[in-house]
Amino acid sequence: MDDNQVSNTSLWTAYMRAHHCIHATDKIFDDFLANDLVPKDVQEQIKQQIIPEVFVPATNNIVTRSRYTEDILEEAIRQGVTQYVILGAGMDTFALRRQDLMEKLNVFEIDHPATQEFKLQRYAELGWKNPENLHLVPIDFTKQNLETELTNLSSYDPEAKTFFSWLGVINYLTQDEVETTLRFIANISSSGSTLVFDYMDLNEINLEKKSQQLQKSTEYLEKIDEPRKTGGFNPLVLEENLACLGFDLVENLSPSDIESRYLKECTDQHVLKHINFAHSVTK
Ligand SMILES: C[S@@+](CC[C@H](N)C(=O)[O-])C[C@H]1O[C@@H](n2cnc3c(N)ncnc32)[C@H](O)[C@@H]1O
Repeated sequence: MDDNQVSNTSLWTAYMRAHHCIHATDKIFDDFLANDLVPKDVQEQIKQQIIPEVFVPATNNIVTRSRYTEDILEEAIRQGVTQYVILGAGMDTFALRRQDLMEKLNVFEIDHPATQEFKLQRYAELGWKNPENLHLVPIDFTKQNLETELTNLSSYDPEAKTFFSWLGVINYLTQDEVETTLRFIANISSSGSTLVFDYMDLNEINLEKKSQQLQKSTEYLEKIDEPRKTGGFNPLVLEENLACLGFDLVENLSPSDIESRYLKECTDQHVLKHINFAHSVTK
């Protein structure tokens, strides 16, 4: 990722949520702010670059992972969670969109400095104000220490039950960077805190290497300077991998699980074949 450039993929995923919100007849996730958040010239550029066979399943992935996360978050809040840390938040609009849940939370948006800067500027252009209980923490996962940066904040309480989401980020990091961050999360949160994330199924990626869908998306990510790296897991041993990093696995959804849980009633029922969702808690 270019150090001075907003993440293109964060604009893409917001565009997909906006597209879904406007066009879906069976709405899975209602990000009614995304369409305003993505500037119109950016939307035009994205439209020119859409690869139809990738766009539909990728959009299904993006909206189902947000829905999955916020469903679990709502339940966690009922069970006493008071902090929500959004890792690699991109254009996530939770803090403005879910005022009903914000009342009960301190929210921390962690993101690459350039992406966070872009979002702040865009909010200013739109006249949107961040709530006082939203804390923006610029961090480059490849260069900075999440543990130090979060625990240095007086607003972050390591003793409180915390919910972490990490959506669409792991595959842009190396496996070492992923594992380092997971260890930090386990170190800075009280036992029973939640982490929801999506990850590349490394087995499926190897099997699918020759599929057109994967080749085209890989080429595109390289072109926009956000190449996939090695971060990901083998779902068959995810439970053991997470246990070594300080987490118990609660649920691991395969693409077909995601399709049958969320997309049964939809016209386009497919998600990307190599992305799984995981729900885990700290030991
Ligand atoms: C595909 S976007 C996902 C954004 C958001 N979570 C969503 O679901 O729409 C990837 C996000 O990861 C962030 N990211 C990628 N590499 C990063 C790094 N090294 N440090 C911090 N954030 C990073 C980008 O800035 C971007 O916001």
